[in-house]
This record gives sequence, C-alpha cells and structure tokens, in this order.
Amino acid sequence: MQVSTEPRYDIVARLLHWLVVGLVAAQFVIGWTMPDVHRDTVPDGLIGWHLGVGTALLAAMAFRVLWRTTHRSPPDNLPPLFRLASKVTHLALYALLVLVPLLGWINASSRTWTVRLAALVPLPSLSAPGSSFGHAMGDVHGVLAWVLFGVICAHIAAALFHQFVAGDRVLQRMKL
Ligand code: HEM
Ligand code: HEM
Repeated sequence: MQVSTEPRYDIVARLLHWLVVGLVAAQFVIGWTMPDVHRDTVPDGLIGWHLGVGTALLAAMAFRVLWRTTHRSPPDNLPPLFRLASKVTHLALYALLVLVPLLGWINASSRTWTVRLAALVPLPSLSAPGSSFGHAMGDVHGVLAWVLFGVICAHIAAALFHQFVAGDRVLQRMKL
C-alpha cells in the first residue's frame, strides 16, 4: 500500500484535536459516574461538572468547525476507499460532537437548570420548562453518546491500524 508522507495538520487544528479528546474523555467519565438525573435533581457536584465541561467542549467544537471550514486538511495519498472511510468517520465525529452537547443543553433547559459556559457564563435556555421535547432529547442525548463512543472506538482503531499494521505516517499528521 502507498504510504502517506504528507505534512501535519496546522498547529491550531492539532491543539483543538487534542483539547477536544481530553474534554470528551472527561465528559464520558463524568456522564457515566454522575448520579442518575431525576425530576427534582439539583445540578451540582458531578452533574455541575458535566454541564461545565460539556459547554466548554461545545465552545471548542464551534471554534473547531469554524477553523476547519476555513482551513484545508493537509493533502494525503491514501487509497480512495481509505479516504472515503476517514471522511465519513470524521464527519460523523464533528456532527456528534456538536449534536450530543446541544441535546444535553436542551434537556438541561427543560429541567429549568441554568447552563453556564465552562460553569461561568450563563447561556440562554433552549427549551420550555418541563417540555416533553426537552425530556425526549435527554433520552436521545444518552443514546447518541453511545453512538459517539462507538465512532470514537472505530477512529482510534483506524489510527492504531495505520500505525501498527499499514505502517504509514497518518498518525504523524495529528502529532503535537
Ligand atoms: C460530548 C459531550 C457529552 C457527552 C459525551 C455526554 C454524555 C452523557 C452521558 C453518557 C450521560 C448519561 C446518560 C444515561 O445515563 O442515560 C449524560 C447525561 C446527561 N447529560 Fe451529557 N454529555 C455531553 C454533553 C452534555 C452537555 C453540554 C450537557 C448540558 C449542557 C449535558 C447534559 C446532560 C444531562 C442533563 C444528562 C441527564 C439526561 C437524562 O438522564 O435525562 N451533557 N451525558
Ligand atoms: C488515541 C486517540 C486518537 C488518535 C491517535 C487520533 C488520531 C488522529 C489522526 C492521526 C487524525 C488525522 C487523520 C487524517 O489525517 O486523515 C485524526 C483526525 C481526527 N480526529 Fe482523532 N485521534 C484520536 C482520538 C480522537 C477522538 C477521541 C476524537 C473525538 C472526540 C477524534 C476526532 C477526530 C476528528 C474529528 C478528526 C478529523 C480532523 C479534521 O480533518 O479536521 N480523535 N485523529
């Protein structure tokens, strides 16, 4: 197979990639360990952290989408099937990393919780108090978080494949 020897992503793209990896890892750990959320739950402790880290992640993703749509990725010489697979996976990651936090925010709003950017700056409410839409989006949030987890596993498996099986330089493209 032809190897990719092309240059790396620019420094901003690389920093954002690894910042989001850190935030999303924290977010899964918090989401899975925080207490169950009920009708009268107060958003403090780990739940407060979930909202604070999640909104920071959403802000990082907003900036990342802006950056990515205005900056090209470095050229590669991957076979067409690999290129297609990586494009589909990356697009799914971008979409889920925006959608999952937004759905969590909608659900939090319907619980009348004040969602703060990075636990500091109050953000507007995205759904009416007690709305059934907001309630349903909480369930979709939980399901899509699992879908995101699955796509991340596939992405990491692909990175390991490139490094240890294909023996190409794809991993170097995102190296800090
Ligand atoms: C990529 C970012 C995020 C991930 C991976 C994530 C993941 C999770 C997970 C795994 C759960 C537990 C689901 C369950 O037990 O069924 C959860 C619940 C929840 N998350 Fe997130 N979350 C993210 C962002 C956010 C954000 C930004 C907010 C709000 C601003 C938020 C609000 C909530 C709420 C309110 C719940 C409880 C939902 C319910 O039980 O009805 N999440 N999240
Ligand atoms: C050990 C973990 C990870 C490694 C080694 C890794 C490695 C890489 C590499 C090498 C690329 C560039 C691929 C290419 O040039 O075609 C990339 C791109 C990407 N990664 Fe990761 N990644 C990891 C974890 C993650 C996680 C957890 C996420 C999601 C939260 C993620 C999201 C993305 C996205 C969206 C891109 C596309 C970047 C773009 O084209 O704008 N990665 N990753």
